[in-house]
Amino acid sequence: MCGIFGYSGNKNSNDLVFNGLKRLEYRGYDSWGIAVLDGNKIYQYKDIGLVKQNPKLKKLPKSNVGIGHTRWATHGGVTKTNAHPHISTNGDFTLVQNGMVENFDALKRELRKDGYKFESQTDTEVIVKIVERELKKNISFKKALMTAFKRLEGRNTVAVLDAKSNKIYAIKNGSPLVVGIAKDGIYLASDSLSFSPHTKKIIVLDDYDMVEIDGKDYVVSNIKDGKKKKPEIRTLKYQYEDIDKGKYPHFMLKEIVEQQRTILYATDYNEKELEPLVKQIRKSRKVYLLGAGTAGFAAGQIAFFLRTIAKVDAMEIKSYEFKSYLPVISSKDLIIAISQSGETADTIEPLEVFKKEGCKIASIVNMYGTTISRMSDYEYYTNAGPEICVASTKVFTAQSAWGYLLSMTLAGKYKTARSKLKKLTKSLDEMFSKKSFNYIKNKICKTLVDKEHFFILGKGENASIAYEGALKIKEISYKHVEGFSAGELKHGVIALIEKGTPVIGIIPSGEHMDDSKDLISGMEQVKARGALTIGIGASEYSGLEIFDYYISTPQINTLGSIANVIPFQLISYFLSVLLGNNIDKPRNLAKSVTVK
Ligand code: G6P
Repeated sequence: MCGIFGYSGNKNSNDLVFNGLKRLEYRGYDSWGIAVLDGNKIYQYKDIGLVKQNPKLKKLPKSNVGIGHTRWATHGGVTKTNAHPHISTNGDFTLVQNGMVENFDALKRELRKDGYKFESQTDTEVIVKIVERELKKNISFKKALMTAFKRLEGRNTVAVLDAKSNKIYAIKNGSPLVVGIAKDGIYLASDSLSFSPHTKKIIVLDDYDMVEIDGKDYVVSNIKDGKKKKPEIRTLKYQYEDIDKGKYPHFMLKEIVEQQRTILYATDYNEKELEPLVKQIRKSRKVYLLGAGTAGFAAGQIAFFLRTIAKVDAMEIKSYEFKSYLPVISSKDLIIAISQSGETADTIEPLEVFKKEGCKIASIVNMYGTTISRMSDYEYYTNAGPEICVASTKVFTAQSAWGYLLSMTLAGKYKTARSKLKKLTKSLDEMFSKKSFNYIKNKICKTLVDKEHFFILGKGENASIAYEGALKIKEISYKHVEGFSAGELKHGVIALIEKGTPVIGIIPSGEHMDDSKDLISGMEQVKARGALTIGIGASEYSGLEIFDYYISTPQINTLGSIANVIPFQLISYFLSVLLGNNIDKPRNLAKSVTVK
């Protein structure tokens, strides 16, 4: 994980790097650091905790070239010493890294034998020392850095500020790196969002690309063959000037409420745009949906839509469990990768393997110019805009809604899908009303605040919603929440129900699925054992005595499942507000998990 930012040009790099890091904080927020150049001297500032101003930071000399880093600790605890940048012994260069040096132990032993001493526990410092050792051979800085980089195993991306040449060098492998080309200078970052206010023109570096930035000029070359490249300059569709919370106290609440619009943005594709993928699905033997975390549950939801609406043989694979599918996968299969960031290492690894097997790859990603989109034969975007809160909300519903549109298009019902989606978003109004927020916060969450274990039951169209609902509450409230298929109840879960145990049941409308009957009888059984019962779903069941609380959601055919996830997002949010937790940056998590 971790975020890298760099700038070289004619503006003040101190402020640009600082603001860039604030936008990259979702990638890691345990510590951070900035390095700038003044003359031929490097000055740096490091701190633990969130990226924030400090008088010492203000004292750094104003510069036009600088790099910075936000850290999500892998090797070594959260300390100022372990924070990046890591400066060389003589202060000539300083380096930041995103990734994990997998042969770090062996390299460190080798360097110790050669007399090198280490201040930090990081794998990053090892890279610095290898560069120092190479430089003793009287070679150029660029050559030393390339040689050192080639020694690293794993997915690693580095950016280096070199005081002698006044340049920034960066090399990418695995972890993302994007170059932004603006009138005022050159930007470098782990994602294009962090420099979005300054330019829409970007270069997405390939693995083993090196970029050398000198003032407002840049050169891209491949470190394997040493040859210069003429990289493609892409123009981003959207530019995000301000990424702020607006009138909301947290990004999470803002992003939850935005869903009315983002469901429509994600499904703003005409039939022609969907056609290439529709054709590919038709000729594929099997469709595998791939994702991790929330995206993994969206994969489950999309697979459900593909099977039930379009009669496509589709199933989800958790990205990190792909290996057991290798013996059965064939080049006739299609893989659809689901990812918010487009950079999740757990998802990239199977895509690389499946691609080698000859499978076609499609993806639905929220960020632009990412590794996953670039690996895809069919590239689609959720277009939900920046999702800053670590816990994903609007992107989950965007991914699921896109999957619904795709499935309906395959079934020849494109137009119906579009009108149902519009109807769904309109009917979300009530869920975002003051009355609904009050009910969830003051009635439901106040009751839940002292409980430690909750269970969620869903079935069929709501099975993945139960898993995602549980993940959402877990991530921010730190409560122990498990989501189950309602069918599991009698096979074990019911043993956990005691007096007062909260059980949330997702109840679909009886009109469309008879799963509602199973859910109601399951909720009756837990109620009989003293559970505190909450129902989420079709309003026709809101008056039943078995429910202590009930949140009605709009049920527009199977789209009801997408609406049903929203109350979980709101419970997660208000419960965590009551608990005083850090909503947008929950402990130990990072939004983009680019290491394995
Ligand atoms: C992390 C995040 C989750 C996210 C998952 C997959 O675990 O905390 O919110 O769902 O990664 O990320 P992706 O970017 O591939 O959707």
